[in-house]
Amino acid sequence: MKTIVQIHQATWDQRFPADIQREATSALEDGSVIMLPGLAFAMTPEEQKLLDPRILGKAKNVSYTPWTDKVGGTVCTGAEAETIRAVIARYSKAAQGLMRKLFPHYNDTLKVQRASLRPAEIAGRKSSWRKDDTRVHVDAFPTLPTHGDRIIRMFCNVNPHGKPRVWRLGEPFEDVARHFLPGLKPPLPGSARLLRLLRLTKKLRTEYDHYMLGLHDAMKSDLGYQGRVGQTPVEIIPGTTWITFTDSVSHAALSGQHQFEQTFALPLSGMLDTGKSPLRILERLTGRALI
Ligand code: SIN
Ligand code: FE
Repeated sequence: MKTIVQIHQATWDQRFPADIQREATSALEDGSVIMLPGLAFAMTPEEQKLLDPRILGKAKNVSYTPWTDKVGGTVCTGAEAETIRAVIARYSKAAQGLMRKLFPHYNDTLKVQRASLRPAEIAGRKSSWRKDDTRVHVDAFPTLPTHGDRIIRMFCNVNPHGKPRVWRLGEPFEDVARHFLPGLKPPLPGSARLLRLLRLTKKLRTEYDHYMLGLHDAMKSDLGYQGRVGQTPVEIIPGTTWITFTDSVSHAALSGQHQFEQTFALPLSGMLDTGKSPLRILERLTGRALI
């Protein structure tokens, strides 16, 4: 398995040959990062002026919800807010188009989720260890159980000053699971219902979601592990777009500023090979159903 698979000279709305589509899809499911060097997202000078952390409120990103066409997390109002909305909406559309063209196998099942603009420098940002994305982790979110759906994210570095986004990539999901799963406690009986009742989760937290969150926390809180895995930084220069399953690919973002991101959810049934999903891997390791 290659950590990074590159597709050169891609454009946002091209047709890809069937062999490229097949190879990209199976590499994605194997846990590779699909990197499209030179696939830049064009912005007007007026839009670039808003690549500035001053647009943020308390949140670390400006979020965009495609189905309501609304932004959140910015202090901007009026014309500036409209410019921000329009530019993230345009990125979201472009990302959706590229997903459809590069991974047509997913078209019937893929769900479009939120997008974001990330104008803050990551290096040196203060946060709790749990929210610290400079530590290698797999994505799992306390309030958002996935019930086994996969998380795919498409990023684009739009830094106007040539600054790369620096990532670390850790070990394959099965190795992460073998290492940390034995140390995780099972959920307390009734806890999923209680969390839902208290509105601390948006859906019932299944056993699968419990263990994914456990892996996320165990990875981030183990400093010895952090010092051991993913020591080779990956420098991603501006004008690069990349796509990966962030629920299975161990990743960390060490530094960088100004990036777009679009999230997709893929139901397990949409995968070429469900055996490569975190759900099936965890079920194999525990020997029972987790949903
Ligand atoms: C993350 O998903 O952990 C952060 C990725 C990034 O902002 O580059
Ligand atoms: Fe992450």
